[in-house]
Amino acid sequence: MDIVSNKEILVDAKKNKYAVPAFNVHNLETIQAVLEGAWEMKSPVIIATTPGTVKYAGLEYIVAILKVGAMKYNMPISLHLDHCSDVEFLKNCVMAGYKSVMIDASMEDFNTNINITKSVIDFAHKLDVSVEAELGLVGGQEDDRIIKEGEELLTDPYMALEFAKVTNVDSLAVAIGTAHGVYKLEPKLDFDRLKKMNEIIDTPLVLHGASGISEENLKIAIANGICKVNIATEIKIPFAEAIKRYFKENPDANDPRHYLKPAKGIVKEVVKEKIRICGSGGRA
Ligand code: 13P
Ligand code: ZN
Repeated sequence: MDIVSNKEILVDAKKNKYAVPAFNVHNLETIQAVLEGAWEMKSPVIIATTPGTVKYAGLEYIVAILKVGAMKYNMPISLHLDHCSDVEFLKNCVMAGYKSVMIDASMEDFNTNINITKSVIDFAHKLDVSVEAELGLVGGQEDDRIIKEGEELLTDPYMALEFAKVTNVDSLAVAIGTAHGVYKLEPKLDFDRLKKMNEIIDTPLVLHGASGISEENLKIAIANGICKVNIATEIKIPFAEAIKRYFKENPDANDPRHYLKPAKGIVKEVVKEKIRICGSGGRA
């Protein structure tokens, strides 16, 4: 089959109260590891790339690899542009084959965020491409966008309701206390806020900054409306650690087929574990 949109994946997740993990990838090996892990678990999966990754790996290469992956495994695989604030860049990704995009205008004021999101939706929905937006500010760093400690902004449930209604966005990233990157201590999540949003909003909700959040808390979040769980840091760190370990044990190594193999293997294990926690195994 072809690459699908997040909407196609998340509607079923919402209906059946599970979540689908979105893994941020950076290269062929991480894409292969995610797809192999998802295949072994029979799980739909979202491959996410930030604009920085698109620039690094090359737009056409990423789309081509994903098209081959979707055909090879014949299960729902989405290719999603993560945290994009540049509308022209986003449109280029859609024209090249992305089926899902996040327009991140969360740093703008409420009305500007609505207007930018609406204009992207006007463009994307005509092409059957789904759109995620963010309301509130998730802390930490993703690409070159940094929200410092103390500058995070939790999502107001009634503003989120209005945002979802007037934009008709396909999924909404909400801020309930998570942050991108490594936590010094696991943050306390505002589940009351999430419960309220889940009560009043039908749109599938998205949890950013999910690396380092315990299984217990991820499960509570999923039981309360989180349908997409974003994982970047928990892929990046073990991938890098495995390569470092390999070179420590084999200082003269130089064959990428050897030193990348354990890194791929470890990413695949992380992928399977997150799929298990999200409850998306067997749903493909
Ligand atoms: P982490 O860095 O916590 O994994 O966050 C991932 C994310 O939200 C990607 O958009
Ligand atoms: Zn994010």
